[in-house]
Amino acid sequence: MSSARDLFLAIETSCDETSVAIVADGTETLANVVSSQVEIHAPFGGVVPEVASRAHLQNLEPVLTQALRQAVVEPDDLTAVAATHGPGLIGALLVGVTAAKTLALAWNKPYVGVNHLEGHIFAAFLERPDVRLPMITLLVSGGHTSLVHVRDRGEYTVVGSTIDDAAGEAFDKVARYLGLGYPGGPVIDRIASGFAGEPIAFPRGLMDDSLDFSFSGMKTAVVNYVRKHPDTPNDAIAAGFQDAVVDVLITKTMQAVKRHGVISACLGGGVAANSALRRRFEVACDDLGVDSLVPSRQFCTDNAAMIAAAAHWRLRHDGPTPLSGGATPSLGLGS
Ligand code: KG4
Ligand code: ZN
Repeated sequence: MSSARDLFLAIETSCDETSVAIVADGTETLANVVSSQVEIHAPFGGVVPEVASRAHLQNLEPVLTQALRQAVVEPDDLTAVAATHGPGLIGALLVGVTAAKTLALAWNKPYVGVNHLEGHIFAAFLERPDVRLPMITLLVSGGHTSLVHVRDRGEYTVVGSTIDDAAGEAFDKVARYLGLGYPGGPVIDRIASGFAGEPIAFPRGLMDDSLDFSFSGMKTAVVNYVRKHPDTPNDAIAAGFQDAVVDVLITKTMQAVKRHGVISACLGGGVAANSALRRRFEVACDDLGVDSLVPSRQFCTDNAAMIAAAAHWRLRHDGPTPLSGGATPSLGLGS
């Protein structure tokens, strides 16, 4: 393969997905291999950090080999090697960072450390490199719920965030309480989609003028409701809970869009795979006359293609990350 293009190999191991991607010129995904640890963590009802690190160690080599094979790329063709260096679980991050730095050294390529949250923002540019900025991105995952004002690539202000649970965490906790298993988001999405009746009306948290979110009260409302009405079918509860969460996410995002006068709005993070959220997001953006960016599901949940896309821009903007660079579990956007 000719190396006329910029080819970035990226590694993502911040939580429970081991992923390696190869992306050309920041937008063309040649390979995006994801090995999920969901089945390993499911019996525990959530991600066990120690178990995640060990699984990354085992999975990384086969995932890397598969990605290189699928992309038909030789290490020599690569422009740089990147890895997520935060935020995330420290043991899990260290596996990816150490592997990327070792490969960079062995292959004599620059190393680029990437912020996972910036990766979720860049997921949209993989499919829509022509997107018009500024935009508001709603970042919703198992660990994060934030509204980010993206003035330009690399210029971010967090204008709202959760004051307690992340949206994905609330989905996971409610699913666990209802005995639906882990992770909760996809199963709640599925059973809510098949429900044709009247969803239970749950309260919406923090529906004030602020752009912050609160989901822990909504989760408690579900628990209290089930205690009082134990015969209510799970699908009516799941549909009601999902309605309430999506309502809050859409309302706050559209408030942010109006307040900051942006021309585009974007979804990112694992919860952005939710069908009701995706549908209502498009409609709400249309109503406000802003461009909506809803990345395909494979680029919403954790993946290395989005890390490669962000690394492509970061290398040009900041140059390589020193090989002495570490991993930062609580890395924020703009830090
Ligand atoms: O971004 P992600 O893959 O990993 C983190 O960085 O957290 O997000 C995982 C979260 C989990 O909480 C999962 O339940 C949620 O995303 N999720 C969903 C859906 N698919 C995944 N939540 C709602 N609906 C879905 N379809
Ligand atoms: Zn994520």
